[in-house]
Amino acid sequence: MRLTTEQLDQYERDGFLLLPELISASEIAILRDEVERLKGVEADCVIREGRNSAPKILLKLDDPEWPTYSAPFRALSRLERTLGAAQQVLHDDALYMHHCKLNIKSAIEGSVWQWHQDYMQWQLDGIDRPDLVTVMVMLEEATEMSGCLYFLPGTHKIGRIEPYFDESTAYKFMAAPPEQMKDILASHPAPVPITGKPGTAAIFHCNLLHASGHNLSHRDRWHIYMCYNRCDNHPHDVENPRPEWVRSTDWTRLQVEDGEARKESTVIA
Ligand code: SIN
Ligand code: MN
Repeated sequence: MRLTTEQLDQYERDGFLLLPELISASEIAILRDEVERLKGVEADCVIREGRNSAPKILLKLDDPEWPTYSAPFRALSRLERTLGAAQQVLHDDALYMHHCKLNIKSAIEGSVWQWHQDYMQWQLDGIDRPDLVTVMVMLEEATEMSGCLYFLPGTHKIGRIEPYFDESTAYKFMAAPPEQMKDILASHPAPVPITGKPGTAAIFHCNLLHASGHNLSHRDRWHIYMCYNRCDNHPHDVENPRPEWVRSTDWTRLQVEDGEARKESTVIA
């Protein structure tokens, strides 16, 4: 799959692209079985929340050295449809994985992600340029009720906002200051709910403002995020670097492992 000129223009303009049915039903079935298996893994790279300490974020799914490794998720991260799309929007074939995470937003208990830009944190990781892109794939249907993502179109163009450290949720992280965020929301077109069936993907710029709400539904919301960086933009040394599972120091160039011809077949097995 190659993105069209219209899609690339849309990405430049809005900071994201929505790609329904990027991943086939048979591929999603394999990945969903993997989620069920991974939910039982105990490791440092699993972050939990809620009364039952349910897994909220699992990292390093693409790396055989970690207990959360999954061959099907690794395969997903190397497809022409995922890695190839990232190469196209970053205008560079030499990419590595900054991090790869599965966000399980549990039914009823899965909580909010405050408004933020991913590059708020990634600059602090020592990455000099906002030359990263995330490919997100829905593994469960995402609805407004189940806490889908919201994107604020065009906000990748406002540049990185100075964040504050938000400690109000289970996953403490760098978020957009509320007063500034209110001004931005008031002066931009409405946020877009990123809803879709399993297999829908979204590609988004690391400076795009995004957020998601609480899961009020009876079903978990499962999203995989593959965050690609250019190899020539790898982080420089910083004091107190974050752990390897969120700030990879393996900058090996990724290779696309399926071909254009196999696009319709199940390549995740
Ligand atoms: C993120 O922005 O990193 C996660 C948001 C979500 O899963 O809703
Ligand atoms: Mn994010």
